[in-house]
Amino acid sequence: MIEIEIMKKYECLKSSEIPAEFGPGEVHQKVYLLNGELVPWSGVYQDVKSPVYVTEENGDCHPYHLGSYPKLTSKESMSALNSAIEAYDYGRGKWPVMGVEKRTAIMSRFLNRMAEKRDEVVRILMWEIGKSYPDALKEFDRTLEYIRDTIDTYKELDRDNSRPEIEEGIFAQIRRSPLGVVLCMGPYNYPLNETFATLIPALIMGNTVIFKPPKVGVLLFEPLLQLFAECFPKGVVNTIYGKGSEVVTPIIESGKINSLAFIGSSKVADNLKLKHPKPHRMRAILGLEAKNVAIIMEDADLDSAIPEIVSGALSFNGQRCTALKMLYVHESIKDEFLQRLVAAVDALKVGLPWEDGVKITALPEEGKTEYLKNLVDDAILHGAKLMNPEHGGNIVNSMFTPAVMYPVNDKMKLYYEEQFGPVVPVMSYHDIEEPLQYIINSKYGQQVSLFGTNSDTIADLIDPLVNQLCRVNINSQCQRGPDTFPFTGRKDSAEGTLSVYDALRSFSIRSIVAAKGTETNKDIVRDIIRNNKSSFLSTDYIL
Ligand code: G3H
Repeated sequence: MIEIEIMKKYECLKSSEIPAEFGPGEVHQKVYLLNGELVPWSGVYQDVKSPVYVTEENGDCHPYHLGSYPKLTSKESMSALNSAIEAYDYGRGKWPVMGVEKRTAIMSRFLNRMAEKRDEVVRILMWEIGKSYPDALKEFDRTLEYIRDTIDTYKELDRDNSRPEIEEGIFAQIRRSPLGVVLCMGPYNYPLNETFATLIPALIMGNTVIFKPPKVGVLLFEPLLQLFAECFPKGVVNTIYGKGSEVVTPIIESGKINSLAFIGSSKVADNLKLKHPKPHRMRAILGLEAKNVAIIMEDADLDSAIPEIVSGALSFNGQRCTALKMLYVHESIKDEFLQRLVAAVDALKVGLPWEDGVKITALPEEGKTEYLKNLVDDAILHGAKLMNPEHGGNIVNSMFTPAVMYPVNDKMKLYYEEQFGPVVPVMSYHDIEEPLQYIINSKYGQQVSLFGTNSDTIADLIDPLVNQLCRVNINSQCQRGPDTFPFTGRKDSAEGTLSVYDALRSFSIRSIVAAKGTETNKDIVRDIIRNNKSSFLSTDYIL
């Protein structure tokens, strides 16, 4: 109960206790981006409440009122669609036909301007989704790095394609072309980074874009709206906000979205795909749920494994698709493992996003603490124990202290559901076939972490596991990065692959200009290339 007292202090802080440099202020976004302009909104607004609670003079404790944003309707989202369609203009628009050099120059300008907004965006990110200050900085900087790498990789791709080929007497120039109109929807846990992980490559390849931020995690984009309007030709970037059924459904039903980039749940993704009258015309790039397992073998080095597992399970409160969401430990070491795991979990600092060393912060999703409590209660009902009853599973307002649950079994929701929060389920095994069967029968297929020191045992697991999942981590937590590595999943975990390079491929298609090697054709091609008459049919080498 001491824990609750500490949490209460954190949850109900007075405004005077907020360090000046982290003061949230209020952000009232009164515009949306349409056809190159910030259009004033006079309709209904969505209130934004921070997961961080503050206390009034009279002692009332409530979520900090961070601001508001426009709740658009289908009318505005159809306008956004038309604006993107017009800017693409069947591939004839200024942006899709622009040469690579000009397009990358525009992206570089956007990148430089965005870097100036670091403090503003990071501060809103902390207040809007409760991300700790170092993690919010990391998200911003990682995104800048991602844009930089995307620009360089695109130039590299273009250099590789600047050399025409001649096969069987046919001359060909092969390049990647845009798909058309892309709808980008990111998640609340990485609202900036994961939205931009699809938006930026989609843009640089010459597509026009409509982007819808997640319901939670909208205001942090406000400082960037003006930059989009200034840097990109009109209609190339458009924003929509509001209820999915109101603003997303109609534009997909129109059949005019050529690619859907969505990071969220497979249920929503499936629904969206089915709304398209011809789903094969909408290429889907999806990052979905996962329930990654850590297998802790009998010879695991717990000194290094425990901190890695705790970070893997509980970074940003476990709100990562790559988080370790099931720990499977060998029966022979389970007691020592559990004891050390509980000690490490209980030592995590619970607090406010800006506090030094803070690891566990308030949860931004509505109803999340109730959902987690329900998972814990259900597990207890079916035979699990809360292993850290003093510190774990405490709720005050939107905070939930990490709960370690053991032994988890297949009667419990925690066995199947992606908790996406600070609950750590543990199971033990005698035979390695048990965790392997868990992975085989799981709905998800993203990654696994193997903790052990015997290279023979690890080698025996690698070969079957790479055929079930998409990344096997050895004595390392599951994660997406580095962003140059392919990030994908099987089953309900993903469709398509993201990485700096893969995303450029995902948002484009190969097109060819081909000519039989007649004298007339040679003259035509020579003239077009020598006189720089085409962006596509060109041997220009970007430096
Ligand atoms: O939520 C899922 C994210 O893609 C996880 O990314 O491994 O970089 O934290 P991360």
